[in-house]
Amino acid sequence: MSGVREEEAVPVRSGQGGLIPAQPGPGAGESARKEEPAVDTGSAEPLGSGSGSGSGTGTDGTADSVIAGAGPVARPGERSTVRLRDGDPEEAPRYAPEWLRLREDADAVARASELLDPLRIRLANLPGRAGGLVVHDLGCGTGSMGRWLAPRLDGAQHWILHDRDPYLLHFAAVASPRSASDGSRVTVETRRGDIARLTPDALAGASLVTASALLDVLTREEIETLAEACAGAGCPALLTLSVAGRVELAPGDPLDAEIAEAFNAHQRRSGLLGPDAVTVACEAFAERGATVRLHPSPWRLGSAEAELTEQWLRGWVGAAVEQRPELRDRAERYLHDRLAACAAGTLRVTVHHSDLLALPRPRGGTR
Ligand SMILES: C[S@@+](CC[C@H](N)C(=O)[O-])C[C@H]1O[C@@H](n2cnc3c(N)ncnc32)[C@H](O)[C@@H]1O
Repeated sequence: MSGVREEEAVPVRSGQGGLIPAQPGPGAGESARKEEPAVDTGSAEPLGSGSGSGSGTGTDGTADSVIAGAGPVARPGERSTVRLRDGDPEEAPRYAPEWLRLREDADAVARASELLDPLRIRLANLPGRAGGLVVHDLGCGTGSMGRWLAPRLDGAQHWILHDRDPYLLHFAAVASPRSASDGSRVTVETRRGDIARLTPDALAGASLVTASALLDVLTREEIETLAEACAGAGCPALLTLSVAGRVELAPGDPLDAEIAEAFNAHQRRSGLLGPDAVTVACEAFAERGATVRLHPSPWRLGSAEAELTEQWLRGWVGAAVEQRPELRDRAERYLHDRLAACAAGTLRVTVHHSDLLALPRPRGGTR
């Protein structure tokens, strides 16, 4: 594909620690689709005092039943940490803050820091840079992207955190980054809304658009809307940690490939792009004149990441079984063995992701 470069990954460990409370998501009946005005961080509650209710998802390593679902799932009788689009087709999936917290350190290690220098160069040359950067983080969840990136960029920054889930926006606001790499001030506001309705106007004045673990849960139309809005606003986009559809487990199991295939098919349900998202995004940005760089950003999970690996396994296998129910009996055995290896510290998992940096043609006089 023209204008797209893929580079080698060199994982970098982050010094940032997430401060998200371990509370499950909001009640299943709440709708997250309505727009509401921006909220600034001043009125947010302190960490740990959020309004979540119900029990958390247990991760004691004892249960090994296959539970249908996408992403991490709970044990029988507990609420899934990720809701699916299969009940009410109008209801969007919800992400539990505890799952986002669980993955934050692995995400930080995986992120492609190699894309930062080209980004910094572009940002340094922005007209109007002296007034500080304005960064829009789309699908911010609890804000892990900002906690990672803000302290790696120089100068004053104002982050506008977008998500359709107000509960996650609350946590993003209270655990927002406070200072840039040179000590400059970082301020944050939150905006509730759907990326499907993003317009260039919404990004007016933006220096940068970011997203993390988002592209693969979008549709082609949503990615084209995103690329169009970025192109219209003339701002770069750093879109990280999109699933690549490839997973490696060691030691191997004869069922690995079948589970992986069923999981990928599950990700592509209902028009979502899953592992095709990065290709679609590359094309969408390149067609609008941007130079696109890709870099691998894999999770490399070993014994130190057992809790994350366990939750990821449950979700991965559960989604595969939901997609292909005839796998259930074999998948029960598979998950049992995988969880035992995880608990014993002998399982290694690589979950491949890609980070994408899209740099639009510079436009004179705009930011
Ligand atoms: C997998 S989570 C990633 C959250 C966060 N970026 C991170 O890396 O931890 C995906 C996030 O995107 C949000 N999201 C998904 N589709 C969206 C849409 N169409 N409009 C707005 N937010 C969306 C979800 O609510 C969720 O917070």
